[in-house]
Amino acid sequence: MAKGKVDALLGIVFGDEGKGKVVDVFTPKYDIVARFAGGPNAGHTIIFEGKKFVLRSIPSGIFDEGKLNIIGNGCVIAPDLFMAEAQELETAGYNLKERLHISKRAHLILPTHRVLDRAYEAAKGKNKVGTTGKGIGPTYSEKASRTGLRVGDILENFQQKYQMLKARHEQILSDLHYTDYDIAEEEQKWMEGVEYMRQFPLTDTETEINQALRQGKNVLAEGAQGTMLDIDHGTYPFVSSSSTTCGGVCTGLGVAPNTIGEVFGIFKAYSTRVGSGPFPVELFDETGDKIREIGHEYGAVTGRNRRCGWLDLVALKYAIMVNGVSQLIMMKSDVLDGFDTIRACIAYEKDGVQTTDMPYDTEGWTPVYRDFPGWEQNLTSLTSADQFPQELKDYIRFIEEETETPVTIVSVGPDREQTISR
Ligand code: GDP
Ligand code: IMO
Ligand code: MG
Repeated sequence: MAKGKVDALLGIVFGDEGKGKVVDVFTPKYDIVARFAGGPNAGHTIIFEGKKFVLRSIPSGIFDEGKLNIIGNGCVIAPDLFMAEAQELETAGYNLKERLHISKRAHLILPTHRVLDRAYEAAKGKNKVGTTGKGIGPTYSEKASRTGLRVGDILENFQQKYQMLKARHEQILSDLHYTDYDIAEEEQKWMEGVEYMRQFPLTDTETEINQALRQGKNVLAEGAQGTMLDIDHGTYPFVSSSSTTCGGVCTGLGVAPNTIGEVFGIFKAYSTRVGSGPFPVELFDETGDKIREIGHEYGAVTGRNRRCGWLDLVALKYAIMVNGVSQLIMMKSDVLDGFDTIRACIAYEKDGVQTTDMPYDTEGWTPVYRDFPGWEQNLTSLTSADQFPQELKDYIRFIEEETETPVTIVSVGPDREQTISR
């Protein structure tokens, strides 16, 4: 973590890799932690001292009282959900008001954006994306079509702007014959959330961050979602609507590419995906169920079953390429304890043709696996890499050789303490 640099910590597969945990562990080494994309579709779990928090919009650096946390311009924010999340932290004894800054340029998720999210999903029928229902797609669409509302809008003439946009949404919903909704109660909470947000510094966060960088401070950019859910590089159209990749750090925080330092790519020792879309390594058998069970693979936001499978090196290598990943972080290694055989997908195959490059569409491709012997040992109480069983060392070495990228951290449990540097 060089001074005056922005390091990025990015989920490099389908999300839920454990970004929240590692950002929390890394925070003491940084001056600022900033979210650059996404909104309350994210669910970042942090566990320490017997306490558990799931953050959605607030950066995972918030538990270190001395650090500035920023919700950057590339994010979208729902005032009602933000208020609930922040109040939960305040109740737990964390003082947020001065050290959580929100970009005036971040876009607002209106209650009617969430209704639109549901309406668009319903209209897609069996082709639905399986969104989190948080209004993410409609809000980013509106940002791109230049009709959205931003956090800075709450500072002037807000009611008028809000009513105009809401009326526009109601018109769209009526055109879609989607009338089965009632947002009265939700809207009241949402307006309370807007008032609550006014108590936080609503700032030009890009200027703040760049000033800090010039003073030699360092920034950790916390990713949300994962590379395979990126609007450009993911499995479109089964993606989220933001730039979750390294380029998104620059646009979502207003920092220049030459300020980027380390790029940490975080992945699990196996694969998961929530929602619809192609997933070549998905297991439909008992092994998939076993991984889900042991790994508690149920969505942090929606509670849905996460689809499970073996590690996908095609996806990993693609993500390393588009993000410029300089270090890998392997999470949830302990979940594979006791498996006789562990598999990793090293190529995709279709119609007798094999590829190790990410195809335009991964639908219909099947995985080509390489098998590794599993380990007997329980990893959860290990404290250093030299205690790793030989089988785990071999698995990690294979990943490093295939990806030409070092695995510098291995996580062996959900707690802050269960994090091993190599
Ligand atoms: P994020 O969205 O990338 O921050 O990840 P999530 O919080 O959605 O999902 C990761 C889940 O795995 C959470 O429930 C974490 O508490 C848990 N977790 C993180 N690291 C480990 C690990 O090394 N081992 C185990 N067993 N669980 C972990
Ligand atoms: P974190 O930050 C896993 C998935 C949804 C759906 C698709 C689009 O916790 O890793 P959206 O609501 O964004 O329009 O949904 O993206 N998705 C996630 N999956 N982790 C996440 O966030 C996700 N955020 C969105 O399940 O398939
Ligand atoms: Mg998550």
